Amino acid sequence: MTRLWPRLTALLALLLVLALPALRATAGPGDVAVPSGPDLPRQPRPDSWSAGTIAAGTAQALGPIEPAMVLVPAELGAELQGRTALFYFAPACPHCQHAMPEINALSARLPDLTWIGVATSSTVDAELAAFKTEYAVPFDLIVDRTGGFARAVGARSTPALFIATPHEGAKPAGGLVEIDLVEGYSPYRRGLAGLVAMRQSPDDPFSALQGFESATTCMACHTEEATSWGISHHALAYRTLYLRERAEDLECVGCHVTGMEAGGFQLSDHSSPLADVGCESCHGPSGPHDGVRTEATATCAGCHDADHSIAFTVAKGLPHIDHFSANTLSDTELRERLQAVANGEAGRPLLAFPEGPTVGAQACKSCHKPQHTWAAKRDPHSRAMDRLEGADAENPSCVVCHATPVAIGGPTSQDLASFRTSEGVSCEACHGPGGAHVAAPTADNIVGLGESCPECVIEAVCTSCHTPTWDPTWELKARLDAVEH
Ligand code: HEC
Ligand code: HEC
Ligand code: HEC
Ligand code: HEC
Ligand code: HEC
Ligand code: HEC
Ligand code: HEC
Ligand code: HEC
Repeated sequence: MTRLWPRLTALLALLLVLALPALRATAGPGDVAVPSGPDLPRQPRPDSWSAGTIAAGTAQALGPIEPAMVLVPAELGAELQGRTALFYFAPACPHCQHAMPEINALSARLPDLTWIGVATSSTVDAELAAFKTEYAVPFDLIVDRTGGFARAVGARSTPALFIATPHEGAKPAGGLVEIDLVEGYSPYRRGLAGLVAMRQSPDDPFSALQGFESATTCMACHTEEATSWGISHHALAYRTLYLRERAEDLECVGCHVTGMEAGGFQLSDHSSPLADVGCESCHGPSGPHDGVRTEATATCAGCHDADHSIAFTVAKGLPHIDHFSANTLSDTELRERLQAVANGEAGRPLLAFPEGPTVGAQACKSCHKPQHTWAAKRDPHSRAMDRLEGADAENPSCVVCHATPVAIGGPTSQDLASFRTSEGVSCEACHGPGGAHVAAPTADNIVGLGESCPECVIEAVCTSCHTPTWDPTWELKARLDAVEH
């Protein structure tokens, strides 16, 4: 029997690997006809994007798995009614408890399967009954009394889901009976339900997708897209809030998760597969596969509005969500980028001012007298150049944070002439270039920070200079209060 174990381990491992994000999955051609994608007019791939293959992993994700024959206790074998889903669990296991909503929903989605919960051998009846009630389990639960099931399938941890069929012509012998395992799946990571449902509808897999499925399901086929998404800040937008203890703040959550207003993400579900700005934030529930196509570029403005993104345009944003950017990186570069994003060290290219020449603080004075407390040296930024003594005042690598550049963006040179050294850190260092605004003042041609989300936008402006090196005790609220004008 042992010789079957490696095959089963491979079976479970396959679906586990498919569930891992941001790993460059190598998609081998599987023994399966790749279903055609959505039969809808498609948007051209943006010019700025790298070369890559759409849904490169489809054949592997939908490919058949070689069935593994195992011997299980005869009484368990007798429970198998055609194709049966065997959910192996322990009532006290927190991961199992956590998986129950998804398992219950999956059982409702796949009513053609017989569903049986198989509890670990040490389970007592009272525990089993309590579990069934507490988690409203809609299918029968039995106990693997002899541990024979766990041994047969090689299950070393819970939860695990196996799909089995009776082995053709099997006869119980010595209290054991042969069954065929045809699928293995670990519900430890939530969000795979859509893929499991697709695999159970081999003739028309896309018909199994319904509503929000989560990026975990999409990435099983869209491996290249998912790897590139995994190194963008969209992929940890929820963690950004969680780390700041704002993940339950209704003022914040909607834009940092997937489909909250449309019935996707549920408040406080911290391990939801719909946390973060996933595929379906832009492509709509189930992407285009349910026959409804969302124009992805029309969704950006809902989150990247004037108060949460600096001078956002789709054209500005698109190159930075290149779905195939990871294809251009070596494995080392990919790992480094992943680390940098996870550690909060990756650049924020979007939070850049529009490009253009600056005009200097004097040009603002006539109309913005109240803000000119800055020039009256009440704001420390107006004295920033005074801090640089001797040669430092002519050292561009100091001046870069202590003065305002003569132009923002474009080919930047790092000589002294690139900075308004007479001004210190002035208006345009925080509000962007003001030439067009001075010529014809409107709220649209200057970065007005008055209504901006402090965390989404203002902090990024400040910390471009207030780096951990120069301001190790940076604290947003205190610093903002200190420079209010
Ligand atoms: C079982 C594999 C599979 C899964 C899972 C899957 N897709 Fe696809 N997807 C495909 C295939 C195949 C195509 C067509 C590729 C082609 O035509 O070259 C496609 C095409 C697309 C396209 C481009 C076509 C268009 O009309 O815009 C988008 C966008 C897309 N999928 C989004 C998603 C999203 C979002 C999810 C998750 C909810 C998802 N897909 C899940 C296989 C899959
Ligand atoms: C559901 C809200 C939402 C939608 C829709 C959305 N974004 Fe974002 N976007 C965010 C959030 C939130 C962040 C910042 C995440 C963080 O850093 O925690 C972000 C960050 C970004 C970044 C910076 C990424 C990086 O890795 O530095 C780019 C670029 C971007 N968005 C472009 C777009 C484009 C283009 C669209 C439309 C095609 C779009 N976004 C749609 C919420 C959204
Ligand atoms: C209307 C949508 C929206 C809301 C509401 C929103 N955000 Fe954001 N947030 C964004 C977008 C878009 C970005 C990305 C900005 C960019 O890169 O241009 C972002 C980025 C961020 C960042 C990363 C900025 C950085 O430089 O590290 C933080 C932190 C953040 N938001 C926190 C919050 C907090 C806290 C709240 C609630 C007070 C909130 N957000 C509410 C859309 C939103
Ligand atoms: C921030 C918004 C956003 C997110 C998040 C996002 N996409 Fe897209 N996706 C786009 C845009 C914009 C396009 C360009 C085509 C268009 O304009 O619709 C696109 C194109 C695609 C295409 C077609 C690619 C091609 O070369 O034609 C596929 C497939 C796709 N996305 C799948 C995914 C999958 C899978 C995920 C999650 C891993 C994902 N997308 C996440 C915005 C997004
Ligand atoms: C000729 C008068 C004039 C000059 C000069 C001027 N502004 Fe303004 N500014 C305005 C007016 C008027 C508004 C309000 C626009 C509105 O609310 O519609 C404004 C708004 C602003 C805002 C807030 C925008 C918002 O979204 O609420 C900022 C920031 C700003 N100006 C900065 C500057 C800076 C920096 C300079 C110098 C480079 C400058 N202004 C020069 C007239 C001027
Ligand atoms: C990345 C931006 C940045 C660079 C580069 C930079 N500074 Fe600063 N510097 C700051 C910030 C921000 C502060 C205010 C820190 C605070 O007080 O919280 C500051 C404060 C200072 C101060 C006064 C406070 C103190 O620490 O004594 C001096 C002096 C100073 N800088 C000198 C220099 C010199 C000399 C260089 C070049 C070797 C330099 N700075 C380069 C950002 C920078
Ligand atoms: C250190 C960065 C910084 C500098 C320098 C700075 N500002 Fe601001 N400005 C801000 C921030 C942050 C806000 C929004 C929060 C607030 O009102 O304090 C703001 C708000 C404003 C507003 C809008 C006020 C409102 O309530 O809507 C105007 C107008 C403005 N600034 C003009 C100026 C002018 C003119 C100068 C130069 C004399 C200047 N700022 C220099 C950071 C700065
Ligand atoms: C272009 C670089 C730059 C930007 C952008 C910038 N600062 Fe500063 N900031 C400095 C420098 C340099 C000093 C040191 C000036 C001095 O000590 O005289 C400083 C000093 C300060 C101080 C006084 C010293 C302290 O730590 O208490 C405060 C408060 C402050 N900045 C807050 C902010 C806030 C809030 C923002 C964003 C709205 C911001 N700064 C944006 C460069 C910058």
